[in-house]
Amino acid sequence: MPSMINIQRRRLLKFTGLTAAMAAAYPFLSYAEGMIGMGNQASSDFDPDVEIELKQEVVDIPIFRGPETRVWKVFGKVLRGPKTAIVNHAESYIAPTIQLQKGQKVRIILKNNLPAQSILHWHGLHVPSKMDGNPMYAINQGQTFVYEFKVLNRAGFYWYHAHTHGVTAKQVYSGLAGLFIVSDEEEQALDLPKGEYDVALAIQDRTFDDQNQLYYNNHMMQRMQGFLGNQIVVNGQPDYVLPVASRAYRLRLLNGSNSRIYKLAWDDGTPMTVIGVDGGLLERSERHAYIMLAPGERREIWMDFSGKAVGTELTLRSLSFDSSMSGGMMGGMHGGMGMMGRMRGGMMGGMHGGMMSGGDLPLGGDYAVLKVRVSKQVQAQDKLPERLSTIKPLRLQDAANADSPRNILLSMRHMSALLNGRSYAMDDIRDDEIIPVNTLQAIAFDNGFSGSMGMGGMMMSMPHPMHMHGEQFQVLKREIDPRFRAGYETVEAGFVDSGWKDTMLVMPGEKVTVLKPFNDYKGVFMYHCHNLEHEDMGMMRDFLVK
Ligand code: C2O
Ligand code: CU
Ligand code: CU
Repeated sequence: MPSMINIQRRRLLKFTGLTAAMAAAYPFLSYAEGMIGMGNQASSDFDPDVEIELKQEVVDIPIFRGPETRVWKVFGKVLRGPKTAIVNHAESYIAPTIQLQKGQKVRIILKNNLPAQSILHWHGLHVPSKMDGNPMYAINQGQTFVYEFKVLNRAGFYWYHAHTHGVTAKQVYSGLAGLFIVSDEEEQALDLPKGEYDVALAIQDRTFDDQNQLYYNNHMMQRMQGFLGNQIVVNGQPDYVLPVASRAYRLRLLNGSNSRIYKLAWDDGTPMTVIGVDGGLLERSERHAYIMLAPGERREIWMDFSGKAVGTELTLRSLSFDSSMSGGMMGGMHGGMGMMGRMRGGMMGGMHGGMMSGGDLPLGGDYAVLKVRVSKQVQAQDKLPERLSTIKPLRLQDAANADSPRNILLSMRHMSALLNGRSYAMDDIRDDEIIPVNTLQAIAFDNGFSGSMGMGGMMMSMPHPMHMHGEQFQVLKREIDPRFRAGYETVEAGFVDSGWKDTMLVMPGEKVTVLKPFNDYKGVFMYHCHNLEHEDMGMMRDFLVK
């Protein structure tokens, strides 16, 4: 074991160019652990188009009447470039929205004034390994980490959040997450709703105590299923109402929750018209009766409120689905939410006064997420463009491993959440986690498909939103174990698998195969479950691209 780690370390030393002097200065630390608290300086040969400062602070903000709520808040400031690069949200805990153009060179100066180690990750962005916010780059209170990269991503609705070793869930919950919107020429040429008619909505769940303070725990139950708040907040605000004019809107939806999965639908039966996913616009819009939105995922929808009278209200709901931890036979036997779902919603919720498990909002329950109120009559004749973008489909035969896709087995056993039986550790790259740079890879995430877990594993299977850092990927196929069919049918029609993705939901009994390019950058890039409690529990690993 130690000798293998040494080999890995030598590899890492080689590809990152860590100097012998540094290695000698930290003889007892692994390379990655040695990077914690090192910070990162601005480089003199990088000439940014946009320079942003992000400061992380502990502050009290008025969310409710009565006592203010203590949160961990990011404050943004544009130091160079267009002022529109940062939109602060003073009224909520949500971090500032970053707005950039494809092709811009950006420098982001992160200052950590929190009483904890922390690091930010740009979710969905294709940036160099060192700029990606890997936990090994966490900085201490008072330290600074300077990110410098060129925006290579196409227009899309990305986001950013804390990615600190073992405490990502708690830090995101406390407020360390914001939106990251990229625009480009292709998108600007389209006649899509712009300005105030282009609205980004971060959907999260939180529990506040009777002193208006955020309540969080990660006891065994929360670690296994993920923490569920008992209240939905949108852009950091409870009981969110969006006032709209009677015309078309572009609504961007992020699931920024720690573990909650949504099945979103309009309450008046209007279908969800999806125009974009994680990595930007689709080629053409798609209509779904409902859409599934797992933690980390984004959807953009087009919604036309024209013809609706002032005062009309619409609710975006999350509909019930089978979220059962037991799945398969159990789910089939009991139908509906499954035994565990009911247990959590009913018994557990009741037992602990709703503080434990989402209370009145069990996972897979039916509840309102946000309201839209038509508050202004306008004349508009909006037409959804028929063609939104051009997406080059990736082909299996172009994958370097077309004949033998990498298989990543998701499992929850013995009170742990694992990827191929392994838990997260820094500097622990195994042979099957090394990827040659500039290759296309077929990767399958197997959540107990065809009984690969056996009965014991099946009892513990639950949905996992799987995410990979770096470039966006395309979904090639989904396969479902027939024993899980009944539960699966309650979510299946809500998957949007076209376009570019960085996170996708893998249901119990399901195997999802994707094609992912690993171009341009060498180094470590993470792959993990975006149920943040699972991630912190170790359901996370690094690929080493070299
Ligand atoms: Cu949204 Cu590794 O992260
Ligand atoms: Cu990410
Ligand atoms: Cu998971």
